[in-house]
Amino acid sequence: MRLIIVANRLPVTTVRRGTTLAFKPSIGGLTTGLNALLRAGNPKGLDDYCWVGWPGLPPAGFDDEALRAALAEMPRYVPVLYSKKLYKDFYSGFCNSCLWPLFHALPTLTTYQEWQWTQYVRANELYLEALAPMLREDDVVWVHDYHLMLLPQMIRQKFPRITIGFFLHIPFPHYEIFRILPSAWRSQLLKGMMGADVVGFHTNDYAQDFLKCILKISGLENKDGLVMTQNRIVAVRNYPMGIAYDDFHRAALETEASGKKNEFLKDFQGQKLILSVDRLDYTKGVVNRLLGYEQFLAKHPEWHQKVSLIMVLAPSRTDVSLYGRMKKEIEMLVGKINGAFGQPHWTPVLYQYQTKSFDELSLLYVTADVALITPLRDGMNLIAKEFVASRSRQNGVLILSELAGASQELIEAKIINPFHIREIADAIDESLNLTEAEQHDAMTRMRRQIKGYDVVRWADDFVGDLTKSRKTMDALRQK
Ligand code: F6P
Repeated sequence: MRLIIVANRLPVTTVRRGTTLAFKPSIGGLTTGLNALLRAGNPKGLDDYCWVGWPGLPPAGFDDEALRAALAEMPRYVPVLYSKKLYKDFYSGFCNSCLWPLFHALPTLTTYQEWQWTQYVRANELYLEALAPMLREDDVVWVHDYHLMLLPQMIRQKFPRITIGFFLHIPFPHYEIFRILPSAWRSQLLKGMMGADVVGFHTNDYAQDFLKCILKISGLENKDGLVMTQNRIVAVRNYPMGIAYDDFHRAALETEASGKKNEFLKDFQGQKLILSVDRLDYTKGVVNRLLGYEQFLAKHPEWHQKVSLIMVLAPSRTDVSLYGRMKKEIEMLVGKINGAFGQPHWTPVLYQYQTKSFDELSLLYVTADVALITPLRDGMNLIAKEFVASRSRQNGVLILSELAGASQELIEAKIINPFHIREIADAIDESLNLTEAEQHDAMTRMRRQIKGYDVVRWADDFVGDLTKSRKTMDALRQK
């Protein structure tokens, strides 16, 4: 059996290097996680894989043909190319100005445009067109994320017997939020997802919210997460996505042994380091995080010159206006904090608007004393898990938002409500004062948890349910 991964993005994104067209690794949890999985080998019972997705718009001076030619050297990657219109109305538009804010429970930031919906349908059809010529009935198709919620049903219509999984990497909202969508859109989105045999979410809460929408909007009941449609059974369950634990653990050991850590820390003698890493996104709660840090500095002058916040924000969705506004707000606040508290030899916030490589990130995870991760809402948040996996000495503190999916597994973290600035400020102070023994205890438990359910287990679990569902359907058909 072949595994066909379908996701909005390919694991590589095109860039211009000098006069040539090149590729860089795509950022974000989905590609990082699935890439790690494929490096580890094919999931259980599958012989081969390919990945269908978008490689980004061709850089200036190159066209689609050049892009296709360059990708031909990576035969496992099947490109879906967008027109500029599709990029604007589907990717920046319906996906990231409607579904993204709404599913993160931010309806006041959500826009609803009919022409963007039309392009969303078109984009899903485009993925189907790329898939159809290559699909075989015995393939396992695994569709990912909110960009492609209509696709499972589109594939089902063409290939009634094929096995399809759908996994949502962002939160599924509560019924009262989901129903804000125009009724035709919300019914079609649910119908689209229900074309799959297995529908997966990061947490049980998201799965339950989805089942409630299925009941209230599509009128279908479930028994223990199994939904009977006219002629099929759809299994709905949570699969908390893991990370490549061993990669981070190994990199951390190497960083410690090579002396890179000590070299890095030379510039921070006598200081504690707080680390914050995200894509620059308004759902990540960066403004509240900075306000919490500002309040902490105001309340605790004893920590001045003894702590620095390293804030890394990777550029993301820069054509969506809300992201541009958020960047300005963050940069003003960083300037305000550094202006108010900074000293000639101390910059309280070290702000970096950059995409870091794996090695650079690993070094930061190893050297920080505290990771400060405060999204307003987040499907999972793999950064929290990467930090924990990198703490091979079992020390360090994770401050984690209760509204990140990861908080349901990493219960020994210092859990805070990201909307309450004082909670963030107090958590920073408490974390910096935790004893070695307290740190060790919490970190050991969290490491055990994420080692036990890493990205390979996650995929095996999901694909295992898909193969089970295939057997059930085959048996039912034979009766
Ligand atoms: O986690 C949600 C998600 O959209 C993923 O699909 C992706 O890995 C990440 O955010 C980055 O987003 P984008 O592909 O829009 O850059």
